[in-house]
Amino acid sequence: MRRREFVALLSSGLWLLATRLWAEHHTLSADPLMVECDLASLTGRYTPNEDFFIRNHADPPPAGQPQMIQVAGLAERTLSLAQDDLRQFRLRSLGAVLECAGNAMDSGAVSNGRWEGFSLAEIISLARPQPGAAFVNFYGRDGYGRSVPLERAMQVGLLATRLNSQPLGRLHGYPWRVLMPGWYGMDSVKWLERVEFASTPLANPEGAYQQIVRQPCDDVARGPLAHLQVKSIITRPKQNAVLGRGRVEVRGLAWSGAGQILKVQASRDDGRTWHSTQLEPGPRSEWTRWQWVIRCDEPGVVGLTCRATDESGNTQPERADPARLDGYANNWYHRVRCVVV
Ligand code: MTE
Repeated sequence: MRRREFVALLSSGLWLLATRLWAEHHTLSADPLMVECDLASLTGRYTPNEDFFIRNHADPPPAGQPQMIQVAGLAERTLSLAQDDLRQFRLRSLGAVLECAGNAMDSGAVSNGRWEGFSLAEIISLARPQPGAAFVNFYGRDGYGRSVPLERAMQVGLLATRLNSQPLGRLHGYPWRVLMPGWYGMDSVKWLERVEFASTPLANPEGAYQQIVRQPCDDVARGPLAHLQVKSIITRPKQNAVLGRGRVEVRGLAWSGAGQILKVQASRDDGRTWHSTQLEPGPRSEWTRWQWVIRCDEPGVVGLTCRATDESGNTQPERADPARLDGYANNWYHRVRCVVV
């Protein structure tokens, strides 16, 4: 579904090349709403708000009601915060990738945005959690809830109110949401209405967003998902693209929850030989754009592959781990096949 229009530029009587002005959107599900956009259409460092992926589990809550955040549970003080009360906290801004844990290698459930909001650490400190509080449970007005270790919420959590210099859109949590930079998107609870300190995490009877690893003797081990796994993808050329002979710009993105991307290597022979790519690094919680220029002078199939390494030394695995049964945190080598004619 196309959402914006191309504008052709008329200059000196000639139609010049039109700039891409919108992304191709894919609605994966209408109910609950899940929308992705084609990452190949990205032109800047940040994903425009109207192209930002959407992952809802239920209908978004009705707009227009007065909003409050209740802070309670194992804490010395209970708080009831309205928009004006947030002014007491320091305004913060940071760039960060948001990736859905279920984002497949060829999907677009990942976006990069410039977020503004308030440090969760300041809000939590005002409530003064009791010593037994190990988790903080976030509840959205749509009934969705997630538990996050208290320490992590204190270290990185943001109560985000703006995205790319605009108030958060209705589908992205207006008027506020949690943002957990460096962690998969399910913990970044939208339409936040309640924050509760607890000694144990929320029950998760359906086992959603868990890592499930096959053990010897047909047993399985379940556990929480780790931080965003190091990942790079090729955004151009697209899968199955037909290319003319000559110069080809291979472009892509890379990110990790364990620090800056140190290198992205790419291959044009299905991973037999690897080459360095040119990185355009950004702040550590954002994605890094990368580029590799090659010549394809012979007709035939070209098997492009990429892999990234982060500053903690993590590198993408070559293939999916056959012991992983959950389908989350997909980050193996990204492969794109195209044909030169
Ligand atoms: N928060 C609420 N209240 N309801 C939801 O359905 N989905 C979660 C998270 N927060 C969700 C939520 C998931 S799984 C993801 S990946 C991100 O929101 C997606 O955020 P976005 O739709 O703004 O991109």
